[in-house]
Amino acid sequence: MNDLVWARTQLAARLPDHSLPQGLYTDQRAFDFDLDAIYGSSWLMAGLECELPEAGNYLALKVGKWPVLLVRGKDGEVRAFHNSCRHRGSILCQDGHGSAPKLVCPYHRWTYDLDGSLFAAGRMGEGFDKTEHGLSPIALRRVAGALFICLSDSQPEFDSFGDSFNRYAAPLNFSDLKLAATDLLVEQANWKLVMENARECYHCPTGHPELGQSFPVHMVRHFDTIRNPEAETFAAQMDAHGLPHAAAEGSWWQLARIALNPGSTSISMDGRPVCAKPLTTLNGGNVGSLRWAIDPHMFAHATADHVFTFSCMPVGPRETHVFSRWYVHKNATEGVDYDPFALKELWLKTNAQDKELAENNHCGVLSPGYRPGPYSLEAEALAVRFADWYCDRASAYVADHG
Ligand code: FES
Ligand SMILES: [Fe+2]
Repeated sequence: MNDLVWARTQLAARLPDHSLPQGLYTDQRAFDFDLDAIYGSSWLMAGLECELPEAGNYLALKVGKWPVLLVRGKDGEVRAFHNSCRHRGSILCQDGHGSAPKLVCPYHRWTYDLDGSLFAAGRMGEGFDKTEHGLSPIALRRVAGALFICLSDSQPEFDSFGDSFNRYAAPLNFSDLKLAATDLLVEQANWKLVMENARECYHCPTGHPELGQSFPVHMVRHFDTIRNPEAETFAAQMDAHGLPHAAAEGSWWQLARIALNPGSTSISMDGRPVCAKPLTTLNGGNVGSLRWAIDPHMFAHATADHVFTFSCMPVGPRETHVFSRWYVHKNATEGVDYDPFALKELWLKTNAQDKELAENNHCGVLSPGYRPGPYSLEAEALAVRFADWYCDRASAYVADHG
């Protein structure tokens, strides 16, 4: 049975509002299928533009097995390329942030300008045309200081997300941020279990006592809140300051400005700001959290004092990399305005707790006793939404390629 036929069979077995058939979480064929059908054909958030402040700054990352490179050119534009030399395919840059006046392949020194064009290639003889050997571009969109890429030549519709995201995020001036800290967590769990866990707070009251200090972990459905008497007051305050807050969504994205717990203005161990240089002073610095989430891979929270992003990248059927990044105002000074340990503490704890939950989940899903189970439509509405989105996208891919 080829992978597409196998995937179709698995998808056909999905019960409505239930977790996925076992093989979709555990099988190598599902992993291979997901890279093509999901990660290779979706919009992904690569990072924020402030990570590449100067010409020559770059960010290299893997989308599944595919190496990708974002570079700021001399003209100020950020471009995305496949991180694969047009000579014999070596990667140009190792994963992570860096800076270079030109991009030089470490193998035979082919050298590219920051706009991806081939600048020099030694000993290639007469008749070799440099203009035909520039780096292969990747679709990139820039909105409100955030960078989105899609590896496919036929990308999902973007503008309805872009317009909404711009409206919600622009007041926080993401162009005034700087990257303050990063973390990589390796989880022995399938990426879909990591993401389902990241999309629901059914587990939060017991799983994340620290997060529950500031974050309304009793949220129901799509960001409706209960046991948070300040939610209505918060909505009126946001309206008064012209800050959009209502939950908005498209097929692959969600946005909302969420009221935090009473007395909290940041998502931190004690609910207080973890950076003294705010991104905004609107409403006395109480602007809740702007949460945005993109399927398949990420969520983020922007409070008045910092931005946190979570990005999930599949490495194998049972291995997932979770990249965390923390951003603060570009004029904030480490050790004066913020303590990197305090900045990271809550999400490091929360992510470590989630890693254990997701790994236990994967371990149990491997059991011959596993049967897809029903989600709580109140407490796991966004997890259902994720699973439904996955099945819809996967089924559409099978239909297109079968
Ligand atoms: S593979 Fe890059 S120069 Fe040869
Ligand atoms: Fe969690």
